[in-house]
Amino acid sequence: METLLTNHRQLGTTPFLYSLEPLISKLRKDLDLPRGNAQRYTDALKGLPAIKPSLVILDKDQVTAGTIQDIPMEGRRDALNDLESSLMALSPWRKGPFRLFDLEIDSEWRSNLKWDRFAHEISSLRGRRILDIGSSNGYYMFRAAAREPWMVLGVEPQHTFYFQYLALQKYLNLDRVFCLPIPFDDLPMMEGFFDTVFCMGILYHRKSPIDMLKNIQAMMKKGGEIILENLIVTDHPDLLRGSRVAEPYPGSPMPLCLCPEGRYAKMRNVYFIPNPKTMESWLKRTGFHNIRWIDISATTPEEQRKTPWIATESLTDFLDPHDPSKTVEGYPAPVRAIVTARS
Ligand SMILES: C[S@@+](CC[C@H](N)C(=O)[O-])C[C@H]1O[C@@H](n2cnc3c(N)ncnc32)[C@H](O)[C@@H]1O
Repeated sequence: METLLTNHRQLGTTPFLYSLEPLISKLRKDLDLPRGNAQRYTDALKGLPAIKPSLVILDKDQVTAGTIQDIPMEGRRDALNDLESSLMALSPWRKGPFRLFDLEIDSEWRSNLKWDRFAHEISSLRGRRILDIGSSNGYYMFRAAAREPWMVLGVEPQHTFYFQYLALQKYLNLDRVFCLPIPFDDLPMMEGFFDTVFCMGILYHRKSPIDMLKNIQAMMKKGGEIILENLIVTDHPDLLRGSRVAEPYPGSPMPLCLCPEGRYAKMRNVYFIPNPKTMESWLKRTGFHNIRWIDISATTPEEQRKTPWIATESLTDFLDPHDPSKTVEGYPAPVRAIVTARS
């Protein structure tokens, strides 16, 4: 539990974040209760060997801490076993990749591919206050940290991913990166606080995407930048599997939305998948402007696939085996768009 407390204490002592102190005290109490997975994950964290990394690399595809040479020869094998088994106990590792003391965590998603799609298209992150909504284990927060922001705050309600974040932070030890194990809705209103907001892979899970965008907008400084990534529906003729486009398809002038009746790609919690016109209209109706289309890509098995670090199904299991342009439910297969807009 010490890692948790340290992490929260840092957050509480950061200027401007005092408003979060009551929330942090409550979380501290909640996480101390031996219930759910938190206890199991806390034990996994305790199993991580105490090694000091000689290097941290944040600006390459694999977020890295240390090398094998940082572990004394005597006891190296045991330390590596402890490292691997503790990290495995925090599976599934959806986002990554990471490299800790030369142990590679080959996550389900090659998140570096998404990062590469937008990283050169956004405003400088230097000195900025960044919010990452649904930050998972922190992959994008760590990549952002390489660009010297003032601070990055993630919110991630799923304990599995939050504890992965804590495990990674044990070695990365980045004092400007924070995470709270809560949904965005539980974050106290920090009006006009953030310069940059990452909202990626979130909106299609929301029953009320417009309300969420409105709340994000209220938390942003005027002129701040949102990086919004979402599933979209499009029949763009160039968007064959694996191809990328940077413009919304002008063919459909009507703002339309796919509302899956049941599951979408086996996910129970997908509510609205907009076409490009709808995505723009949501942004405009919630006060955003200067909308820029950065990328539209079909999700491929090169980007999302089964690895030893996940025991669950992955993309190819979610698609129709006879027609991979469709999900198993018969809906259009996942296509993701990235747009930026100003608050
Ligand atoms: C599809 S993943 C996307 C992760 C990452 N942002 C990315 O783009 O790769 C969605 C993440 O959002 C988290 N999440 C779900 N509901 C949330 C909410 N209300 N507030 C914040 N995060 C949420 C999930 O636990 C999950 O880690």
